[in-house]
Amino acid sequence: TRREVECSAPVNIALIKYWGKRDENLILPLNSSLSITLDQEELCTTNYVYTDTAISQDSLTINGLPHSLDTPRYLSCLQTLRQLSGRHERVWIESTNNFPTAAGLASSAAGFACLVYSLAQLFQLDCELSAIARRGSGSACRSMYGGFVEWKRGVLSNGEDSIAYQVFSEDYWPELQVLILVVSDQKKSVSSSHGMQRSVKTSPLINTRAESIVPERIQLIKTAISERNFESLAKLTMMDSNQFHAICMDTLPPLFYLNEVSHKIINMVHRYNEQCSEVRLGYTFDAGPNACLLVQKQHVKQVLAIIHYLFPTSNEDKFVIGKSNSVSPT
Ligand code: DP6
Repeated sequence: TRREVECSAPVNIALIKYWGKRDENLILPLNSSLSITLDQEELCTTNYVYTDTAISQDSLTINGLPHSLDTPRYLSCLQTLRQLSGRHERVWIESTNNFPTAAGLASSAAGFACLVYSLAQLFQLDCELSAIARRGSGSACRSMYGGFVEWKRGVLSNGEDSIAYQVFSEDYWPELQVLILVVSDQKKSVSSSHGMQRSVKTSPLINTRAESIVPERIQLIKTAISERNFESLAKLTMMDSNQFHAICMDTLPPLFYLNEVSHKIINMVHRYNEQCSEVRLGYTFDAGPNACLLVQKQHVKQVLAIIHYLFPTSNEDKFVIGKSNSVSPT
């Protein structure tokens, strides 16, 4: 008998970054992190999955191309889902991103969140799923929820308490918007997984960040969100992005994820805020040169005009406007 399910999962952007693992196999982080989930209409992964007695082996396609499921990350997600549900039929998975996979826009987060959620639906498994998505890619656990999401570091060595939860819902701060500036759609030279491994091994600063700076920042940013205090949210986000890239520079050999255009964007944001005599814009960069800007609805038009003026480009369609009002996978 054939059964099928279709689900989609959103991309999330960390405002307080996850960087460094304390357990490579279980994907347990050195520190907690906090993210904002983007609107699924704009950026998401959609999965169509089915089981059928005629299927003899698990298979996966991403944007129509065959992909191996025979990697530790896929295997641990599949095995955990099967163990918990007691279902062992083979599955067929067709995964599609509505954004260019090459653009380095957190595609693994949405991808693994979608994989775990859709298979859990197919296997009729009703349990905490973020810890399973985490086994696919750390940041994927945060894509299981909409709005503002914290991935708690946890303390248990089996990872059971290293899970994500929603701090504030997607409706909490509707004026808050995220603009994504695609600076380059090249694949990054060092993946996040390898980069953070190298930082854990060589950066003398990473432990101070994880142990004493991030815990305080998570508290402060939660307060900023609860008060809808844009200045505080934007400042904490920019500081944390800069500190993450400082850790990258503190790594040996260093990790250069930002490029000249990224630096120009950073300068533009600070100059704009100065001229406005208030903080109207914030930025954050993951392990790549693309920028995510935080802005409130009433300033989006002005900000886009400045960006188009400073970065004249024919690729206007690359400026994707996302919102923080996403919903959990359905
Ligand atoms: C810089 O979640 O991609 O985007 O757990 O090894 O799959 P793995 O890493 P990944 O790392 C994301 C790093 C980051 C910061 C963040 O999203 O918190």
